[in-house]
Formats: sequence, C-alpha cells, structure tokens
Amino acid sequence: MTAIQGQPRTAERTQSRSSSAADWTPTSWRGRPALQMPVYSDAAVLGSAEARLRRYPPLVFAGEARKLKTALAKVANGEAFLLQGGDCAESFADFSANNIRDMFRVLLQMAVVLTYGAGVPVVKLGRMAGQFAKPRSSNVEKVNGVELPSYRGDNVNGFEFTADARKPDPERMVQAYNQSAATLNLLRAFAQGGYADLHEVNRWNLDFVRHSPASARYQDLAARLDETLNFMAACGLTSATTPQIAETDFFTSHEALLLQYEEALTRVDSTTGDWYDCSAHMLWIGDRTRQPDGAHVEFLRGVRNPLGFKCGPSLSVDDTLKLIDTLNPTNEAGRIVMIVRMGAANVAEKLPPLVRAVKKSGRSVVWSCDPMHGNTETASNGKKTRHFDNILKEVKDFFAVHRAEGTHPGGVHFEMTGQEVTECIGGSTDITVDNLNERYETQCDPRLNASQALELAFLLAEQLKSERQSVQRARPTA
Ligand code: PEP
Ligand code: CO
Repeated sequence: MTAIQGQPRTAERTQSRSSSAADWTPTSWRGRPALQMPVYSDAAVLGSAEARLRRYPPLVFAGEARKLKTALAKVANGEAFLLQGGDCAESFADFSANNIRDMFRVLLQMAVVLTYGAGVPVVKLGRMAGQFAKPRSSNVEKVNGVELPSYRGDNVNGFEFTADARKPDPERMVQAYNQSAATLNLLRAFAQGGYADLHEVNRWNLDFVRHSPASARYQDLAARLDETLNFMAACGLTSATTPQIAETDFFTSHEALLLQYEEALTRVDSTTGDWYDCSAHMLWIGDRTRQPDGAHVEFLRGVRNPLGFKCGPSLSVDDTLKLIDTLNPTNEAGRIVMIVRMGAANVAEKLPPLVRAVKKSGRSVVWSCDPMHGNTETASNGKKTRHFDNILKEVKDFFAVHRAEGTHPGGVHFEMTGQEVTECIGGSTDITVDNLNERYETQCDPRLNASQALELAFLLAEQLKSERQSVQRARPTA
C-alpha cells in the first residue's frame, strides 16, 4: 500500500512541489475554459464541501493506479484485453449491495467468457464507485412547456423534474464520495474475499438470465472450466496455492467531469512525489470536454493515473496527436486509452486515419471501442435507446479496422447493468420497442442488461479468437 501525504493547503496547492508536469498545479485548470460544469450559487457552501473532501481519505492508492497502468501497458502491447463497463450514471436512489454485486458479477462473467473463450488475460475496470457527473447536450430540459436546468448527475443536481432538485448543490459531492467509498469497500471484498474465486463461476449464473441463450452457453463454459480446474488441482494448482485462482484485480474509473471534486481528491504520493487523482484508478475525458486547451485536459495532464479520452466522429487527427502529446509527453505505455465512440455508421471510415496517425507517430496507446455513445437514438415511443445490432456492428467494424491496420483492438467500453432492464433493443432475448417501458430504469443513457452484456461477451470472444489466430498466422515461422 502506498502512503499518501496529507492534503496541502490551498496556498501550497497553487505551487507545484513534485515531479509533476510543467506549470501544472491541481488548481491550474481554473484558469482555462471549463465546459459542462455547474454554476454553484453559494461560494461558501461550495468552499465548505471542497474543504471537507480535501481532508477525507483517498479512495484509491497511487500504487494501485500504477498497477492498472502496468496492466494497460500489456493491453497496448497486444498481450491483454480491457473490459470497461458499468452504469451510464450511478445514482443515490439505486445504491444497494445487490446492485453492486450484480454489476460486479456480470463483469466477472464477461471476463471469464473472454479469458476462457478467447485465451486472453482481461483487465477488469468498472465504470463504478464514482461515475456520477454527466455532460449534457443541452443546458435545459423542457417538459410540458416547463423549462428547467438539465440533470447533470447525482453529484451535481437531482433527477426529479423540479426547480429545487435541479439546482446544483455542492453537498452532493460529499454524498457521492461517501457512496463511492462504500461501493469500493464492497468491490474490494468481492474481488479479494473469495467471491471471485474461479470455483464460484458456476454459481455466478444469475437466476434471472438462467433461461436466456447466453446463459445456457455460459453454463456450458462453466462446466468446461470446472473440468480444467479439477485437472489443475490434480497437478497441485489450487486456490490455496495459486492466488490468481482465488482472487482478482478489479479497478474503478469514471469521467473526470466535475473538476472541483477531482481536485479535492488529488494528492501527492509520498513514495514518488507525484500527484494522483485518488477518486478512481483511471479517469477519462468526455467527448464534449476534450478541447486541448480546456480545463479538463489541463487538470488531467498533471495527475499520473492512467487516462482515457473519448474519440467521437468530430475528433481530428491534429487534436488526437495534440491530446496524446499533452497527456503523455513521455510516451509512457499504459497511460492513454483512446475510447472510440464513432457510431456504427462512421467507425469504418473515421477510425483508420486516427489509427494510422498514432501508429506513424510511434505513440503507445490502448485502442478501446465504446459502441454505445455513437448509437443512441430515440425510439418511436420517445424513449432513448440503442440497438444491439448497431452495438455489435460497431464492435465488428472496430476489430476489422485494427486487423487491416495491423494494430491491436485493445478493449471495449460498455454501459451496462447487472439487472434485466429493458433499455436497449434486440439481442437474443429480443427486446422490442414495446418492451422498453417494462423496466426502463436508467437516469441517463440506455444500458445493456445482464443477458445482452453476456451475449456480447460471447460474440466478442469469437472476434478475439479470430484476431489471435490471424496474428499467429502472420508470424514468420523459423
Ligand atoms: C459517457 O461515457 O457516459 C459519455 C457521456 O460519453 P461521451 O463523452 O463519449 O459522450
Ligand atoms: Co452514457
């Protein structure tokens, strides 16, 4: 465990005192244009919430963030695969042990399918324990002629459509911190305390997906894995002798949007003297806040966590290279995850120029596919939804681009839940527009339900397997 020094006072925090990026301090973002941030009406209330957060313990440790970076460096080298997934927006109302367990469990199931089905190590990264702030395409929302500020995530304002709920409240940052701490506590217990033991794989099969086609496939895979574990035990490899069987590494991530919150949780790691944003292991910059001269890029360039940035259809080659240079000037492997969310209709055309430019520049990055955010549409009944077929098409086209360019399709980024919600259309359980109202529970974007997520994992495992085979075929023989 890496010790974290106490939080310096504001005066000290304006001066860099570590081996951090040039001219950077945790507050230097305040001099840059900051999009998508709330305007708080009471500076004293905001100051009080920030001061408390600065005193509170870090949620993650610098050494853990470095461990994730090492794992991501393997992904960048084509030796592992990244599975990043979770809610679009976590919510205070849905905070429960069962929801956390179900999300963790379906992520583990997907990881087993990918590891066992395709034979690649999987880095598990939740959009959890901090994914509370949302960028919005409009500042206001209109319902029946009434106009109110948009909902911006539970750590900013309330989802309820009332003027009172929609007012940004700094105290929400403190509640988000507390919920993140409790969520992380449970995740650590699940990951290290026996629940994630591979002998439990059979038992992870969720009751409610037991009858779905993906569940039947999973049952079959679990039986084969059981046989493998028996064979390994006969060779002397058991949970007691091999910790990798008994426990797993599980990391957390969220969009670093609400910079007052991120700044307050940014600390100096006493073993290296470097700054880390201790709100999560990995942070990413959204598609709407990735301006190279903007506040979000300025803030994140100075912390040493692994970072992502979203690559939407409007991202130019110039900005891509500028962002990589600013965020990773020393070309450290595992530092940058490029989260591509072009949309099924665009990725085949818009991704190759970016891949070629990055490859030519010699920069090491993880290429990850977010097939959710470029495929959002409004269904005939007015609900926001996504089609399973479009999600799958974007993943397949993403793989095809990397195969053609000779680069590694390093990972995926899903909005999903462990519950059997009805928010995305399609998949083998065949959710239709008419089903959307049955369990439409998201506070923001439509998520894959547990069956759809597992089904996607099987389809992905097939893609990965054929990618590996083509890499092996391309290797020169001695
Ligand atoms: C998100 O990941 O929830 C999100 C808002 O994505 P993007 O920035 O890609 O639109
Ligand atoms: Co989203």
